[in-house]
Amino acid sequence: MKTREPHILVFGNEKGGTGKSTLAAHVVVSLLDMGKSVAVIDIDSRQRTLGRFIENREAFIRTSGKALSIPMYVVLGARNTPGEGVDEKDQQNQLQQTLGDLKSKSDFIVVDCPGNDTYLSRLAHALADTLVTPLNDSFVDLDLLAKVDPFSYEIRSLSLYTQRVWDSRKFRSAAEKAPLDWVVTRNRLATLGSHNNQRVNHVLKALKKRINFRYVAGLNERVIYRELFPQGLTMMDLKKLDEGAVSQASHVAARFEIKTLIKELKLPSV
Ligand SMILES: Nc1ncnc2c1ncn2[C@@H]1O[C@H](COP(=O)(O)OP(=O)(O)OP(=O)(O)O)[C@@H](O)[C@H]1O
Ligand SMILES: [Mg+2]
Repeated sequence: MKTREPHILVFGNEKGGTGKSTLAAHVVVSLLDMGKSVAVIDIDSRQRTLGRFIENREAFIRTSGKALSIPMYVVLGARNTPGEGVDEKDQQNQLQQTLGDLKSKSDFIVVDCPGNDTYLSRLAHALADTLVTPLNDSFVDLDLLAKVDPFSYEIRSLSLYTQRVWDSRKFRSAAEKAPLDWVVTRNRLATLGSHNNQRVNHVLKALKKRINFRYVAGLNERVIYRELFPQGLTMMDLKKLDEGAVSQASHVAARFEIKTLIKELKLPSV
């Protein structure tokens, strides 16, 4: 039985495929490795990427007999039927009940959001202690935060998503909760720098002051972040499964990137 409130870590944005579920899976496994109790709420009930990662992990443990840690896990929003509209009260009750059930058992509750605006996603954003927003190395993804002048790269206006995060901030403040820690990170960076990379970097640095997020180092594009998905594993697990094995350089680099990300998230007691 935990006495402290669990820390709610939400992976969200309103853009598909930027790496929310991939980052969430790696952060979950890292926290488990540190001996933390972790619960996952997958509110992307259509894709269930993080949920499937956990199911794959369960199957791997069952068939291999290896002792790997696994998080508690719940999928929410599954009662939505296409064309039937969302029962907001029902979803709110589901989320509250789930959080209530997990509260006493977890140090961290990790919520993986879909890449679009849903009612459950808004609720999750309002409850987040830390919000992690991954972006790919592109102005298409930057559009998610703000509209940028195509010639001068000056910031013209803030996006709907940024305004929604601000609404979540207001909600927390009204509820006298600690301020939301919004972390924007880049994902799938090319290992070789490019002009585009530098320009995106420049705009993000300007935006971070204007809309108040922390901009932290992200992950490079690496096959190892995706190839172990069918087994529900990460490169951190590979080391544990075969201690004598010599790690490839890219695995060592990937482990370092994840370690740096975890450090920069500045999660409580981590
Ligand atoms: N750093 C990376 N290196 C290589 N591949 C990556 C990396 N990050 C994510 N991917 C791959 O990119 C794709 C999208 O990633 P992911 O599913 O995590 O995004 P998402 O933001 O959760 O998407 P959605 O909004 O649809 O839920 C997946 O195929 C994933 O394996
Ligand atoms: Mg996802």
